[in-house]
Amino acid sequence: MKILAIESSCDETSASVLDNEKVLSNVISSQYFHAKYGGVIPELASRAHLRSINEIVNLALEQANVEVNKLDALAVTKEPGLVGSLLVGSNFAKGLAMRLGKPIIPINHIEGHIYSGNLQSPELTFPFIALVVSGGHTSIFLVQSYNRYQPVGSTRDDAAGEAFDKIAKLVGLPYPGGPVVDKLSRSGDKKKFEFPRPMLHDDNFDFSFSGLKTSVRYFVHKNFDNHIPEDLMPDFCASVSEAICDVLTHKTVRAAEKYNVSNIVIAGGVSANSRLRQLMLERAGGKGINLVIPNMSYCMDNAAMIGFLAYNKYIESPDSFYDFSYTVSPVALRAMKPIS
Ligand code: KG4
Ligand code: ZN
Repeated sequence: MKILAIESSCDETSASVLDNEKVLSNVISSQYFHAKYGGVIPELASRAHLRSINEIVNLALEQANVEVNKLDALAVTKEPGLVGSLLVGSNFAKGLAMRLGKPIIPINHIEGHIYSGNLQSPELTFPFIALVVSGGHTSIFLVQSYNRYQPVGSTRDDAAGEAFDKIAKLVGLPYPGGPVVDKLSRSGDKKKFEFPRPMLHDDNFDFSFSGLKTSVRYFVHKNFDNHIPEDLMPDFCASVSEAICDVLTHKTVRAAEKYNVSNIVIAGGVSANSRLRQLMLERAGGKGINLVIPNMSYCMDNAAMIGFLAYNKYIESPDSFYDFSYTVSPVALRAMKPIS
């Protein structure tokens, strides 16, 4: 079964062709121009998707060596995300599916990230704990099958990637701040400055990163008159990364222990962070828990994860995907009840 998947929920335009679960192509085009505004500008993002989507889809078909009329289904991200951006991908996919007379499988973007571990490692078995950590999301899920998962904890304010980006901006580093902070951290002393670990010892799996950002702001103002000296920047970045990654890894491993699962998946842009990977390996490994971290092209926003999940949903109920009347949504409409 050949599926063409499209992802356009934020600032990546991506198209992927899969043959069942096998990824034949996964083209990702990132909108780097947002950097000069210090964040994603929604209206500019949707216009950029509009300009590039046709070319990205053609490239994905070409790289996969699949002709458009040989497709069996379309898959597309439906929620959550920027509405204008989602609409570009969704309308493109709907138009193509109607023209070809093929089904369309709308996918929740977060679910796409959750199952990217299965795409990466076919031997990964259920149940597992998934930490989805990006610029827009930070949640821990207990995942029991392709249709059954539940959030066990989530951020109550900023996402971890957002915290990296905002703190970087505060000290004059470019957007997106996460990769820059990560790079500088590698030559820094993570114990040089002590930043708070919000909610670390709370008896739940929730996070809060806005307090960390505020405390960093006071710290920088009080100690450095708002300008971190260049020679201390690596130490500052390493100390910030340590605070964020300590909480993320601590709570994720604790969730795996509580729910008695022996696999952890981390996905989303922040899973590229070198300290997060190292700490998670140490802490999960120390408890005998297997860690799956998808390749960067499956970690960041990408269409392959959307197509992979679409295929697994389709084979369970092939007749349910001829409804073209669904609408995109900025928030996840699927009711996700936390496990108490
Ligand atoms: O998943 P993603 O590409 O897009 C969404 O937000 O959905 O994630 C982007 C986020 C940004 O906040 C970026 O700063 C962060 O991931 N990020 C990182 C690293 N690479 C990307 N954060 C920390 N360390 C990194 N190496
Ligand atoms: Zn994402």
